[in-house]
Amino acid sequence: MGSATNETTSDSFISDKSAKIFVAGHRGLVGSAIVRKLQALGYSNLVLRTHAALDLTRQTDVESFFATEKPQFVVLAAAKVGGIHANNTYPADFIAINLQIQTNVIDSAYRYGAKKLLFLGSSCIYPKFAPQPIPEDALLTGPLEPTNEWYAVAKIAGIKMCQAYRIQYGWDAISGMPTNLYGPYDNFHPENSHVLPALMRRFHEAKVKGAKEVVVWGTGSPLREFLHVDDLADAVVFLMNKYSGLEHVNVGSGKEVTIKELAELVKEVVGFEGELVWDSTKPDGTPRKLMDSAKLAGLGWTPKISLKDGLVDTYKWYLENVKQ
Ligand SMILES: NC(=O)c1ccc[n+]([C@@H]2O[C@H](COP(=O)([O-])OP(=O)(O)OC[C@H]3O[C@@H](n4cnc5c(N)ncnc54)[C@H](OP(=O)(O)O)[C@@H]3O)[C@@H](O)[C@H]2O)c1
Repeated sequence: MGSATNETTSDSFISDKSAKIFVAGHRGLVGSAIVRKLQALGYSNLVLRTHAALDLTRQTDVESFFATEKPQFVVLAAAKVGGIHANNTYPADFIAINLQIQTNVIDSAYRYGAKKLLFLGSSCIYPKFAPQPIPEDALLTGPLEPTNEWYAVAKIAGIKMCQAYRIQYGWDAISGMPTNLYGPYDNFHPENSHVLPALMRRFHEAKVKGAKEVVVWGTGSPLREFLHVDDLADAVVFLMNKYSGLEHVNVGSGKEVTIKELAELVKEVVGFEGELVWDSTKPDGTPRKLMDSAKLAGLGWTPKISLKDGLVDTYKWYLENVKQ
């Protein structure tokens, strides 16, 4: 077990390919990428449970799972996630389910002897008016974006729980805060998907129908950051291996694109030849949202997948997997 202030750790995670690793949420966008990455690296002892087999909100079930399996390492990528509409409609679910999942998993992982745990949050933990790019120390410096505060408060509690267990027990729990992610197993639902998969679906459907134009809300001017989920998985392995510290770590690409640039790139990758029309009477959202990932870069990690390559890979997966 590391000390509360240790910033680096030994190579114990990466060197032991037979270590028992529990990836919670392994069927999701993030969890599935982490499993692919661990398998590609030769980890042979992954413990995986579907939501149906183990509901992580049920404390007794989670305790029995940990008592029986005793995983050595835990990556917590299970969460109730959703967009603004879902957060507004089901605030109780967003705060309660996420608090339950993370409290059960973090506490049981500690009690049943896991060596290390990585908790995943997201950029919504930061105040609405945080400085841009957003550094880690902007946490809890101002009011949250009201539309997803239920989710954000649960995620902040997860970071604090990792810190508290590190301080009180000297236990190696760390937190990573990814930027907007995309890639295989993303949610391409027509109404409640994020901007990137939503654009991909709309251009694809327009191409298939031979439509002349696709209308997109806003002016296209907001700046956003995207990271391919395989890069995130690489960063997760890196952090499990190299980082042991109290503070959470931002995980971003460090590259900003306007929504217009993104839409044009998606249009090109999908091969939609019609027109892209901006409906500037519709709202734009926050003008800029970028994480400051200097801390992670300083530890020695950089992303490897360009947005263009990542989009090509994601569209290939979409064509093979999403019901047309
Ligand atoms: N997607 C992004 O852009 C993004 C960005 C930053 C951070 N993150 C973070 O990454 C983490 C994972 O997100 P994701 O995008 O991979 O979400 P996701 O695709 O919805 O995956 C979440 C997984 O958790 C499982 N799960 C939910 N409730 C559960 C429960 N009670 N018991 C057991 N399993 C449960 C889900 O299973 P079911 O589907 O069967 O419920 C699903 O497999 C979250 O903490 C999120 O904040 C995501």
